[in-house]
Amino acid sequence: MVNHLLSLGDFDGEQLQGYLKLALQLKKESKEGVRHQQLTGKVVGLVFEKPSTRTRVSFEAAMYGLGGQVIYLSSRDTQLARNEPLKDMARVMDRYVDGMVVRTFGQEVVDELARYSGVPVINALTDLHHPCQVLSDVMTVIEKKGPIAGRRIAWVGDGNNMANSWIQAAARLGFDLTLACPAGYDPDPEILRTAMAESTGRIKVVRDPLAAVRGAEVINVDVWASMGQEEEQASRLKVFAPYQVNEAMLNETGAGTIVLHCLPAHRGEEITDAVLEGPQCVAFDQAENKLHIHKAILAKHLS
Ligand code: CP
Ligand code: NVA
Repeated sequence: MVNHLLSLGDFDGEQLQGYLKLALQLKKESKEGVRHQQLTGKVVGLVFEKPSTRTRVSFEAAMYGLGGQVIYLSSRDTQLARNEPLKDMARVMDRYVDGMVVRTFGQEVVDELARYSGVPVINALTDLHHPCQVLSDVMTVIEKKGPIAGRRIAWVGDGNNMANSWIQAAARLGFDLTLACPAGYDPDPEILRTAMAESTGRIKVVRDPLAAVRGAEVINVDVWASMGQEEEQASRLKVFAPYQVNEAMLNETGAGTIVLHCLPAHRGEEITDAVLEGPQCVAFDQAENKLHIHKAILAKHLS
């Protein structure tokens, strides 16, 4: 069986803890000057159909940092742009590279590549999931707060790909997750139903953002219009206005509450400049941790 990473729901809590533990160890060792070589001689292909700064650069740097090499392919540079079937792409790529890191629109694209690929496919964001990002976010929470089980975590805004992956992380890692989403913008119902049934922590969706953040140790926020939803930007600005993470909202929480944003951020929309630049926001530590968690993911899936 090829060891793909398509969504966090495919892994149990112990496996997720395994990524986190290895990432924390690799981070510590790199700060101490240790040079890693776990992936010497390996090549990973990055197939990206959407833009990226953090995910692309951190996966590339992670691969080089483990002694491996990368080939970056934007969708317009491949025959995917001319509708080559995914099953053919998968069965060609797997003869050249040791793994594929894929950012695309539909989850069915990574699922189809994985079905036909003889090498691991890693989901670097689809419309449905952003699993690698949420692992680096959980790593950041652990660094700032300690073990995540039993903690109270809030999600404020769109029930998008990030929210779905947070829901699956909550089910597997046993923390309480309250999501405040406007009506009509809930997380994926099937992911929610499955996670609620399986979780040892509590997962719930509410409409009132203040109800979600009161008592929360962590507040998560993301853009109101994700990649591919640009034409909805104007209508979403109105719907999501009460969900802005701002100083008034932080006043409802303790001074120890941290704010996570996976970036890129739209200051003045989902988060104010004062909160993003303020002492409770850990967005840039999250961004750094993408490098370390991607090393752990690549080491576990490609070794
Ligand atoms: N957070 C994140 O995935 O950022 P990029 O879109 O820049 O990769
Ligand atoms: N929800 C956002 C995350 C960006 C990293 C998007 O899909 O655009």
